[in-house]
Amino acid sequence: MLYIGVDLGTSSVKLLLMDESGDIKSIVTREYPLYFPQPGWSEQNPEDWFSALTDGIKELTKDCDKTTVDGISFSGQMHGMVILDEEDKVIRPAILWNDGRTQAECDYLNNEIGRDKISAYTGNMALTGFTAPKLLWVKKHEPENFAKIKKVMLPKDYAAYCLSGVHCTDVSDASGMLLLDVKNKCWSKEMLDIIGLKEEQLAKVYESYEVVGTLKKDIAKELGLPESVKVIAGGGDQAVAAVGTGTVGEGMCNVSLGTSGVVFIASKEYAEVDQNALHVFAHADGKYHFMGVMLSAAASNKWWQDEIIGTKEYKKEEAAITKLGDNNVYFLPYLMGERTPHNNPNARGTFIGMTMDTTRADMTQAMLEGVAFALRDSFEITKKLGVNIDRIRINGGGAKSPLWCKIIADVLNVKVDKINSAEGPAFGAAILAAVGCGKYASVEEAAGKLIKVIETTEQDPVIVAKYNKKYDIFKDLYPTLKTMFDRIAE
Ligand code: XUL
Repeated sequence: MLYIGVDLGTSSVKLLLMDESGDIKSIVTREYPLYFPQPGWSEQNPEDWFSALTDGIKELTKDCDKTTVDGISFSGQMHGMVILDEEDKVIRPAILWNDGRTQAECDYLNNEIGRDKISAYTGNMALTGFTAPKLLWVKKHEPENFAKIKKVMLPKDYAAYCLSGVHCTDVSDASGMLLLDVKNKCWSKEMLDIIGLKEEQLAKVYESYEVVGTLKKDIAKELGLPESVKVIAGGGDQAVAAVGTGTVGEGMCNVSLGTSGVVFIASKEYAEVDQNALHVFAHADGKYHFMGVMLSAAASNKWWQDEIIGTKEYKKEEAAITKLGDNNVYFLPYLMGERTPHNNPNARGTFIGMTMDTTRADMTQAMLEGVAFALRDSFEITKKLGVNIDRIRINGGGAKSPLWCKIIADVLNVKVDKINSAEGPAFGAAILAAVGCGKYASVEEAAGKLIKVIETTEQDPVIVAKYNKKYDIFKDLYPTLKTMFDRIAE
């Protein structure tokens, strides 16, 4: 049997076809546009996702025996607000995870309703990227659109709906809406009242590996696939990427170097985190996880190399870097504001510490190190939770760089494991499809069988000591500059 894993990302959808032994048969990517209608806003058209998806499925399955396709599942960019009307038509473009327009709504939720209450209802505090503040923003600024809402969906759930006709979501992605009672995995009545929504305006909540339905007749025909193909709920991209790297046991940690950067820790039990310093979400394996998210990780690298120094030759740039632990230039990677730990959409990217002998390589190094230091901010919080992590797994586009993996090993003082699949979320989604179709008894069993460590980058104690000193400086830069960021944003 064959399983399709779909990673509905921010810049593209990636599809992967996996067989029963975990071998990847083909991979297809389709891009779609991203719109920034105002500074700090970020939107996409859900219809673009769906046409890229159907086009991608056709290409992915063109050479296989289509009757052997058993299931399809998803990893989705999280938090995006898709709103559908009475006829299930998209009301307005989706407002995405990296959109920062909802500061006033977050202030209302955290300060007027009160962070303690919001946290008691959901396990988390309001952050600008989350879905609930976006609904309040639409209610205030586009009341005619708010009045039309029949269903609120997340990006991958909209895709699953188009394929299956079922309004569904899953526990891991729904955790990022600020509408789910994460501990009990059900919609929070209190949050619905605060936002002014009824429960029927939300989708039914499934575990990530559960079957929600099968392909609609017309879609099956269009795709040339059997109507019996099962649609499995899938999950938020971080949880599914963690499945794809085997980060499913207690205390396992994955660092993702995608557009955003994430420190992800799997946990069998739910726990509250002091000051909501990390997100507490349901995991795609049926349990829970903690997560620190920085908004611009590989995005900082892409911005610096593609846009600023104007190159696509990342390897050549990195080959010129020689001063690990000895760089006096620092970079704050807050190009889209920052989530963990500052929760401030006004934070900005900053280089500091240059002198006349600073080179292009020093600046590139500072950018790579700045992302690693920002990941360490999340890592420090996990230490306070009493979780001691001495090795991590790594995935995402940035993980392709051995130098960046080395910098991360030294800045976090951990061993960095690379695994046999670099496909993270799409692979995780195919695993969820296989579990949903009954090929494996659990996500943990599937991950244990399919994922192996193939390479480990060890930390160097001398460089670790140097980076500890550098991190002391890095962590003081944001508080020192905060008022300037707020003034610049005014
Ligand atoms: C997680 C998060 C990102 C986005 C986009 O909270 O915001 O992972 O889902 O990748």
